Amino acid sequence: MERTLLIIKPDALQRRLAGRIVARFEEKGFQIVALKLARLPEAVIRRHYGAHEGKPFYEPLVRYMSGSPVLLLVVRARNAVAVARKMMGATFGANADPGTIRGDFAVSNRFNLIHGSDSPEAAEREIALFFKPEELHETPDPQEGMIYDLSTGERV
Ligand code: RTP
Ligand code: MG
Repeated sequence: MERTLLIIKPDALQRRLAGRIVARFEEKGFQIVALKLARLPEAVIRRHYGAHEGKPFYEPLVRYMSGSPVLLLVVRARNAVAVARKMMGATFGANADPGTIRGDFAVSNRFNLIHGSDSPEAAEREIALFFKPEELHETPDPQEGMIYDLSTGERV
């Protein structure tokens, strides 16, 4: 099992899409491990998006992400990072395939509704940036045997 960090971005909350976006991950079979609403300090956003420092879109990105509250989630599934990125769609809303979150609800290059970690290593780093260990609830999932085939001793 793998965890990933999702951020439901300010545009999603302001457009009242947060519930629908979270529901897609629940429907897919992801388990919610942590969830909170927060207005992120600019310094935290700068650190989170540090890989983009110096790019032309970095300062507008920091302003966008620190301007109003976001929903932070940790979700858990088999191959959670890759599956979540596929569900989000391409970065630019207009390029994202229909059926993906960005493809269905976004046209902007920047206001693209959701962040998802881009590797398992990034996920663990980002989870530690936004959550204390005691905020993560790794409870046994009673649905797991319906979401995966566990009959062979593996999670298939
Ligand atoms: P994210 O990190 O938010 O999950 O998005 P991503 O991996 O799909 O895209 P990334 O390249 O990491 O870019 C981070 C966020 O910066 C904004 N952006 N604007 N050319 C532009 O104007 C531009 N490029 C990227 C988007 O909000 C993007 O999600
Ligand atoms: Mg990224």
